[in-house]
Amino acid sequence: MARIIGGVGTSHVPALGAASDHNKHDEPYWKPLFDGLGPARKWIEKAKPDVVILVFNDHASAFSVELINTFVLGVADDYQPADEGYGPRPVPLVVGNAAFSSHIAESLVMDEFDIAIANEMDVDHGLTVPLTVMYDKPEQWPCQVIPLCVNVIKYPQPTGNRCFNIGKAIRKAVESYPQDLRVVIFGTGGMSHQLQGERAGFVNSEFDHMFMDGLIEDPARLTKIGHTEYLRDAGSEGIELIMWLIMRGALSDDIEEVYRFYHVPVSNSAYGLIVFDEKSEV
Ligand code: DHB
Ligand code: FE
Repeated sequence: MARIIGGVGTSHVPALGAASDHNKHDEPYWKPLFDGLGPARKWIEKAKPDVVILVFNDHASAFSVELINTFVLGVADDYQPADEGYGPRPVPLVVGNAAFSSHIAESLVMDEFDIAIANEMDVDHGLTVPLTVMYDKPEQWPCQVIPLCVNVIKYPQPTGNRCFNIGKAIRKAVESYPQDLRVVIFGTGGMSHQLQGERAGFVNSEFDHMFMDGLIEDPARLTKIGHTEYLRDAGSEGIELIMWLIMRGALSDDIEEVYRFYHVPVSNSAYGLIVFDEKSEV
């Protein structure tokens, strides 16, 4: 049987990907950030997931405003890094697992989560930066990746509660797959940030810490945070945090926080990273 062995929450700040691509790890601005990623990288090196279910959002790279899907599951054999205006990032091809993805797609739809299905999808910084965060700069990504893309960039976005519940359905889908696979789920995006308007550069560390504490202490409370509250308290792009609730929904209640790192600012964002182990799998 496939099993979820842990979860990761991480921001996907594109400048972090560019800093890695251009080997800026030791520059004064970047060193504290890259140093802070170390323990999470050690954890995943030891956890060795076969598959990462990577919950992310597209930033009008693969999908434009012609067709807005709330949830899109990738079922392809592989995914090309997207060209976001400067050419594709020089990172490895993202290799999928079509059979496992198709099983998850079927299980979700039978569970009444009517996702869209992508047979082809380029993946932008929303997906590739979290891989860089956890795996640095390998020749090949050491895991297969199943992308779940969530609309957080156009209203109406899904609620945090819907995200939490699709996370639970993902767990059910994973646990009904007969092959022995070690799975880690990533919830990505956030934390508080606003890229535009009068409050551009807005960060709210109090909100971010409340959110990270809530993941372990009281996730049900986080599912009640509404869109207006995200906008007001976490900035216009803070709503990306609903993707962390998919990750949390896919974990059990018997988890342990193994690592947390928070650093402000990274580009225009508050950078957050959290790692959970399923205690039964340690
Ligand atoms: C930044 C953050 C994001 O989440 C994003 O998608 C683009 C830019 C930033 O902080 O610069
Ligand atoms: Fe973003």
